[in-house]
Amino acid sequence: MDRAQAIDEQRAHYEENGWAHISRLLPIEVADATLYKIQQELGGDWESYKGDYIKTFLTDKKAYECYSFDYTPMATLQWGLTPFMSTITGKELLPSHAYFRVYGKNDVCHIHSDAMNCEHALSLTLGYSNDFLWEFNISKKYYDAKERRPADVANEEGGVNLLGIPMATGDAILYNGINYLHGRIKPNPNKWAAQIFLHWVDREGAYAAHAFDGRMAEVVKRAEFVFPGEDAPEKVNPNRAEMIKERGR
Ligand SMILES: [Fe+2]
Repeated sequence: MDRAQAIDEQRAHYEENGWAHISRLLPIEVADATLYKIQQELGGDWESYKGDYIKTFLTDKKAYECYSFDYTPMATLQWGLTPFMSTITGKELLPSHAYFRVYGKNDVCHIHSDAMNCEHALSLTLGYSNDFLWEFNISKKYYDAKERRPADVANEEGGVNLLGIPMATGDAILYNGINYLHGRIKPNPNKWAAQIFLHWVDREGAYAAHAFDGRMAEVVKRAEFVFPGEDAPEKVNPNRAEMIKERGR
C-alpha cells in the first residue's frame, strides 16, 4: 500500500462525504499488542476492570469503557496520531479526548451525532473475540448541527439513509461526528468487540476551546528534570542490566 497516495484519496473522500475508511491505520500486530496491554493493565473481566462498566444511552447493554484522561497510554496513543489526523484533514488539530469501549455480544451503538469536542473523529477497531467484522454506519446526509439536532431532523423526516462500512482489526473510520449521524445498528456478532473513539478539534476553529477537553492548564505543562550532585551513584533498571553490560562500558 502506498500510504501517501491513500491519504490523498482518503482526504478527498472525507471532504466530500464526511467520512473515510482507513484500512490498517494500525498494523494488526500493533492493534493486537495495544489491546493486550489494555486488557492486562485495565483488566479483562468484571472483577479486575479498573475503568467503567456502564450502560449509557448509546448502547443496549453494559460495556467496558474508559476515558483517555484516566488511562495515560490511551491518551498518548491519541496524541501520537495527531500529525496523521492533521495531514488527513488538512487542518492543524489538537486532541480533545479518546474513549475506549468493549461491546458485548449483540450490543449496538444507537444512531446519534456527537458533541462539539468531536469535530474530527476516528473510530479505531482494536479487536474482535471471533474475528467477525462489524459494520460502522454513517448517514449519507450532512446535517447542520448549528441549526437543529441532527436526530430531531432525522426523526421528523422519518428515517436516515445509512451506509455500512465493515471494519477489520486495525481499521479506522474518520468521520465528522457533529454533522453526520452514525453508530452501529447491526448487533455485534462477536462475544466482544473492542475499539477506541478518538476526537480532535481544529486549533484555529470554532471548537478550539475543547482541545484537551478544556484541560490545557492541567495537561499541557512544561516538564522539569532535576539532576542530583556529581557523587550520586548510577541507577540501572534490572531489566536493562544485560543490555548495558553488552554496550561494553
Ligand atoms: Fe459518536
